[in-house]
Amino acid sequence: MQRTFAIVKPDAYAAGHTGAIIARIQESGLRLVACKTLHLTQRQAQGFYHVHRERPFFSSLVTFMSEGPIVALVLEGEDAIKRWRDLMGPTDATKAPKETLRGTFGASIERNATHGSDAPDTAAYEIGYFFSGLELADL
Ligand code: RTP
Ligand code: MG
Repeated sequence: MQRTFAIVKPDAYAAGHTGAIIARIQESGLRLVACKTLHLTQRQAQGFYHVHRERPFFSSLVTFMSEGPIVALVLEGEDAIKRWRDLMGPTDATKAPKETLRGTFGASIERNATHGSDAPDTAAYEIGYFFSGLELADL
């Protein structure tokens, strides 16, 4: 069993796609372990995406991720990290297959509807950034 971390990004939240995205998660067989809505500050978004701090798109990404509410999720299942990345599709929504979440709900390489951890160590860091042990215990 593996856990991964997911976000319904501000573009998808504002467009009212949260329910559809969670439905796709559950239809895929991934289990919803934790879920909350919050609105990141710029500093919190910087902390979350600190691995990208040297990238040219960093400041635009931080502005985007703090422009409105998001839904943070912990998902569980066998091979959950890869399964969630496959369900999301590639980063650039304009190139994502239509059946993927980014292909369905994303608009661009930045405004791409969802986030997913890319490896076990980043999943552990990201889950801990948003959820306490108490919120994840015995589930
Ligand atoms: P994520 O971390 O959000 O799941 O996305 P990812 O792994 O597919 O892509 P990553 O390279 O980690 O980039 C993080 C987020 O930054 C924005 N981005 N903008 N303008 C650009 O060239 C650009 N490239 C990436 C996207 O919102 C991307 O999801
Ligand atoms: Mg990434």
